[in-house]
Amino acid sequence: MVDPDTLRYTRIPLAHGTGSLPAAGFGTLIPDPAVTKQATKAALEAGFRHFDGAERYRNEAAVGEAMGEVFAAGTVRREEVFVTTKLWNTNHRPERVKPAFEASLKRLQLDYADSYVIHTPYAFRPGDDQDPRDAEGNVIYDPGVTLIETWQAMERLVDEGRARSIGLSDIKLEQLREIVAAARIKPSVVQVEAHPYLPEWDLLAFCRQHGIVIQAFAALGHAMEPNLLHDPVITRVAARVGKTPAQVALAWAVQRGTAFLTTSTKPERIRENFEISSLPEDALRQIREEITTNIRFNNVVETGVPGFIPRVKAS
Ligand SMILES: NC(=O)c1ccc[n+]([C@@H]2O[C@H](COP(=O)([O-])OP(=O)(O)OC[C@H]3O[C@@H](n4cnc5c(N)ncnc54)[C@H](OP(=O)(O)O)[C@@H]3O)[C@@H](O)[C@H]2O)c1
Repeated sequence: MVDPDTLRYTRIPLAHGTGSLPAAGFGTLIPDPAVTKQATKAALEAGFRHFDGAERYRNEAAVGEAMGEVFAAGTVRREEVFVTTKLWNTNHRPERVKPAFEASLKRLQLDYADSYVIHTPYAFRPGDDQDPRDAEGNVIYDPGVTLIETWQAMERLVDEGRARSIGLSDIKLEQLREIVAAARIKPSVVQVEAHPYLPEWDLLAFCRQHGIVIQAFAALGHAMEPNLLHDPVITRVAARVGKTPAQVALAWAVQRGTAFLTTSTKPERIRENFEISSLPEDALRQIREEITTNIRFNNVVETGVPGFIPRVKAS
């Protein structure tokens, strides 16, 4: 039976940028390039038309190969797919922004990006080492550049037509306010961790007000403990509507007005994550009101150093 619900095909118009963003997004933060390629192809086949990558993931070439093969086969056209990639912390100096962007596009085999995003607001020492550290193991930041200077270099990529929109990631509301106030070209997207355990309602309200789309990463809570997919409110809703807990969390993300980014290396889960359907209003309300767990799984927003926080399970 064909599911008539069209939630999975939701597109969010970009107020600052060209076109619209498919709300269902597939993330490519997958360590192994061969697995990345396979998963990217499976995601395109499942129906995903929004992909998130980054120079930091060191697998843009694998994503590019997967897309290139699918485009060449003619089953999906480039214009149907929204591709985001991200500027790493070591490339914040304005003169490094365009070369970093061009290098990403080359690896992705693309001649434009739908969105180019500053991966974190933290500038690290410029250079080829993505993770510069001093002798004590502390990150070496770069005090020689401000975020607005990096942003202005991003704006020039939009002027040149190579980036159809630009955005920020792992940013807090206060800093976002500053960029929005100072920017000539406003951010079109903001990519942050968000899920029912970290709903970021204040940030979402600000973004709505300013026509900015939130790309919610770790939309399933990154399968970490406490496991969102085992939360009793989520599992009760799932049983009631005949969907899986993952589908409930992802539908909630779309129905509250965000795009989501989810990742799986398994074709059956990739299909599951695309096959979402609308939840009734009272289920959305239950998720908002009855879930009280509040937890951030990734503290990149505090330091610019990526990584989900390892937690020791209580014995
Ligand atoms: N801007 C940033 O700083 C930042 C940081 C982190 C992530 N991101 C982006 O966001 C994307 C998504 O983040 P994420 O990987 O944390 O997303 P996520 O979907 O919350 O978590 C992925 C984990 O959930 C498991 N999973 C996926 N679908 C499932 C399902 N239906 N049922 C049960 N488990 C399932 C996956 O395992 P299996 O592979 O075994 O299925 C994987 O371990 C990344 O790929 C990246 O593009 C951005």
